[in-house]
Amino acid sequence: MSTRIVTLPGDGIGPEIMEAGLRVLAAAAQQGGFEYSADEHPFGGAGIDACGSPYPEATRVAVHEADAVLLAAIGGPAWDDAPDRPEAGLLRMRQDLGLFANLRPTRVTAARAGRSPLRPEIVAGADFVIVRELTGGIYFGQPRRLGDDEAFDTMRYRRDEIERIARVAFETARTRRGRVTLVDKANVLASSKLWRRVVGEVAVEYPDVHQDAMYVDAAAMKLVSDPRRFDVILTENLFGDILSDEAAEITGSLGTIPSQSRGASGPAVYEPIHGSAPDIAGQGIADPISMIASVSLMLRGSVGRADVADRIDAAVDAAVSAGEITPDLGGTATTTEATDAIIRHLSTEFSKGAHDDQH
Ligand SMILES: NC(=O)c1ccc[n+]([C@@H]2O[C@H](COP(=O)([O-])OP(=O)(O)OC[C@H]3O[C@@H](n4cnc5c(N)ncnc54)[C@H](O)[C@@H]3O)[C@@H](O)[C@H]2O)c1
Repeated sequence: MSTRIVTLPGDGIGPEIMEAGLRVLAAAAQQGGFEYSADEHPFGGAGIDACGSPYPEATRVAVHEADAVLLAAIGGPAWDDAPDRPEAGLLRMRQDLGLFANLRPTRVTAARAGRSPLRPEIVAGADFVIVRELTGGIYFGQPRRLGDDEAFDTMRYRRDEIERIARVAFETARTRRGRVTLVDKANVLASSKLWRRVVGEVAVEYPDVHQDAMYVDAAAMKLVSDPRRFDVILTENLFGDILSDEAAEITGSLGTIPSQSRGASGPAVYEPIHGSAPDIAGQGIADPISMIASVSLMLRGSVGRADVADRIDAAVDAAVSAGEITPDLGGTATTTEATDAIIRHLSTEFSKGAHDDQH
């Protein structure tokens, strides 16, 4: 079966890293023996320029018909004053596809520990996933008001919204080390008290998964003092937004972290967590790892080829160990050189596999 992939290169460094991701995907398909089609569509600022909308109708139709969506990055100064900004297109697509779950894996292998701002003995071996609720909470809650002397927002969650994201976290934990940590502020917030209650109820359905809870302030501290204690972190939208950027930093560069956003059905969207990096766009030095890792996540989540994803991850680690890395990680490679190195290491991984198969 051929996987139908819609690609949305977007803006800034987006097209540069998308090209890198697609080169690795092509090499992986050729050596791993799977088929796909990749159909490119305008999105974000590129959508505004081509069709007058950050989420053009033809792009909307295409993503609905896809098996998976690969998005690079959107936004930039050229569209900052546009009435309909690129970022609005992203929010619309998330709502349109019902993408309520955002998963961000963070892994600091021994090879990458030296690139972290934290000491290697604290961070080496950290391997966790943040499961963030994406379509509820304070970013969407009504009422909200901005007055001259007073302003307020509303953090609101329904039981069904908490249940469905909790199930994603428990299912994810089952494929990992079997531990879910709910991060909330249940000592103060009513919404967090409901999260604790509902997550505790869902946990009963997963007796094989260990569940605990931590206040968000303590979790922020633990992420930098003892990141290895986490397996799956389950949290609501606002806390997840903040903690996932903190988590990204401990790997050494924003330019290395992928994410998956998914709904109850339909295509999942795979994308780097960073933006379009206008400060380095066009210089050929963007780190391609976040996009290549997004391709790897897609192979796990939507193509059913975790075996090939493992090889891509190993190839990325090998390139990092060999110092074949872009300036954000302290190297001197261009985007193309870093991608070439990963493709070379990927071939080695495949030939190792073929060798193992013969024994
Ligand atoms: N999902 C998205 O597409 C998304 C997410 C965040 C921001 N944005 C948009 O991106 C634009 C720029 O935002 P920003 O500058 O605040 O955040 P950013 O993530 O684009 O950049 C932050 C810093 O990280 C660096 N960086 C990011 N990705 C990198 C990579 N792959 N390789 C090397 N360095 C990398 C940048 O050079 C910059 O110094 C804005 O228009 C913003 O709205 C889009």
